[in-house]
Amino acid sequence: MTAAKDTFYITTPIYYANDVPHIGHAYTTVAADVLARWRRLNGDRVFFLTGTDEHGQKVAQAAADRGVDPQRHVDEINPRWHDMNRLLRISNDDFIRTTDPRHTKRVQEFMQRLYDRGDLYTATYTGPYCVRCEGYYTIEELLDGGLCPIHRKPVERLEQENWFFRLSRYADALLDLYDRHPDFVRPAARLNEVRSFVAAGLDDISASRSAFDWGVPVPWEPGHVFYVWFDALLNYITASGYGDSDEFARRWPADVHLIGKDILRFHAVYWPAMLMAAGVEVPRQIFAHGFLLVGGEKMGKSNATGIAPAQLVEHFGRDCYRYYFLREISFGHDGTFSWESMSDRYTADLANALGNLVNRVLNMVGSYCDGVVPEPTGATGEPEARLFEDLAVATDGLEAFDRLDFQRGLADLWTFVSGVNRYVEARAPWAQRKAGDSDGLHTTLYTCVDALRIIAVLILPVMPDAAEALWAKLGIGDDLHGLRLPRAATRGMLPVGARTTRGDVLFPRLDDT
Ligand code: MSP
Repeated sequence: MTAAKDTFYITTPIYYANDVPHIGHAYTTVAADVLARWRRLNGDRVFFLTGTDEHGQKVAQAAADRGVDPQRHVDEINPRWHDMNRLLRISNDDFIRTTDPRHTKRVQEFMQRLYDRGDLYTATYTGPYCVRCEGYYTIEELLDGGLCPIHRKPVERLEQENWFFRLSRYADALLDLYDRHPDFVRPAARLNEVRSFVAAGLDDISASRSAFDWGVPVPWEPGHVFYVWFDALLNYITASGYGDSDEFARRWPADVHLIGKDILRFHAVYWPAMLMAAGVEVPRQIFAHGFLLVGGEKMGKSNATGIAPAQLVEHFGRDCYRYYFLREISFGHDGTFSWESMSDRYTADLANALGNLVNRVLNMVGSYCDGVVPEPTGATGEPEARLFEDLAVATDGLEAFDRLDFQRGLADLWTFVSGVNRYVEARAPWAQRKAGDSDGLHTTLYTCVDALRIIAVLILPVMPDAAEALWAKLGIGDDLHGLRLPRAATRGMLPVGARTTRGDVLFPRLDDT
């Protein structure tokens, strides 16, 4: 008997190994990481995959420009992607390189299957081709009579005797898929785009190249390598154990492929068609996010707007980095990065709303109770009731993460952070102390520290460093990473007698001079 799917499987695109990571790439990876950590916090077994796309003409050209052979080139570039993941504390479970033998072998097996089933044939094709996209365009798609619609650079005319994939055969099955699973592509507007594209009729697509050899060899045709997009898309199954039935059965189909909108057609049209052709289940969802813009332009290496994540992490810290993009930009839409807005978010949401709160509460516990969490012996009333309503906003709101609506989830979580600030003001523990109301004071402080405990749990997917630092200050002892929702966010779970410490402030003032 084969195993049943029991794993939440999430992927990022695999990044071209000709490039150094910039904040546009990190955007997808961080979002995927937050979702992965969120699902783990909810008790799921998670498989989170990322990696690098190392074949194809574009990579071969980048290697040639540097005067090194392609394998050496990709071996040299690869560590930069691992560095980026470490820098941003990405918790991927695997990292696939398309030059890995485990990948190339399975690509060949999969493609052999398409061949055996009669879905591949040879023909000569001539057409406009963009090397940067590694793809053909039709004349109508070109801009200003001859420019690639994505890169706005002149295309080449490429004639090749190639193997072709019978994509046209799958048009009806694809339309049927979109109708039966309207969530297959999100946001919804993107599904409409894809549907119109398929409804207009599909041409077969070329599946091999013979003009260069940097790719996975076609087993039955010496001198040909598979078209890099076939090779690349297949990473999602080769890395998850395709061909090894148990692991694969537990993971596949992927729950969500996170991608940028520029590679939607490959994922929402070609990819499910390839899988259908091989008799493999299609993924559950493709989510296409928007572009990060800098000064109104798509951020990228080529237009000199490229910003490395390290530049921002150095100034704002990695927690703020992880928080900022997801809080500031609606996932699915384009959004503008600016230093000023990042600085504003840092100050308002992190340093003031959260950092000061932690400081203030722990200072009071320190000076009024020797740092020991008191027993809440006083009565509770309206301020507690309001606080728990705010907590419900946060815990309900965070479920938006499952819809990739990080902005909503974080806004709702900060309703609770502000709610705790309001609670402190409403209860005025300094006044309770002055009035000698120690029962009231103890209830107030217990409630505040309990709220900080819940905040530490709820920020964990987005800001793991701050969550751990806060957790350590609370002196609770349990392993934060072992906690699960909903139990961990239930009020009143803070142990009386825990020894809190003030320590360093969580989000120190920025030096913005
Ligand atoms: N190698 C292919 C993907 C193959 S997946 C089977 C590729 N690589 S890429 O490195 O060019 O791009 C990877 C991802 O980064 C894409 O999803 C792309 O949308 C994203 N981004 C690159 N620049 C971006 C921005 N400025 N903003 C947001 N994301 C952008 O395509």
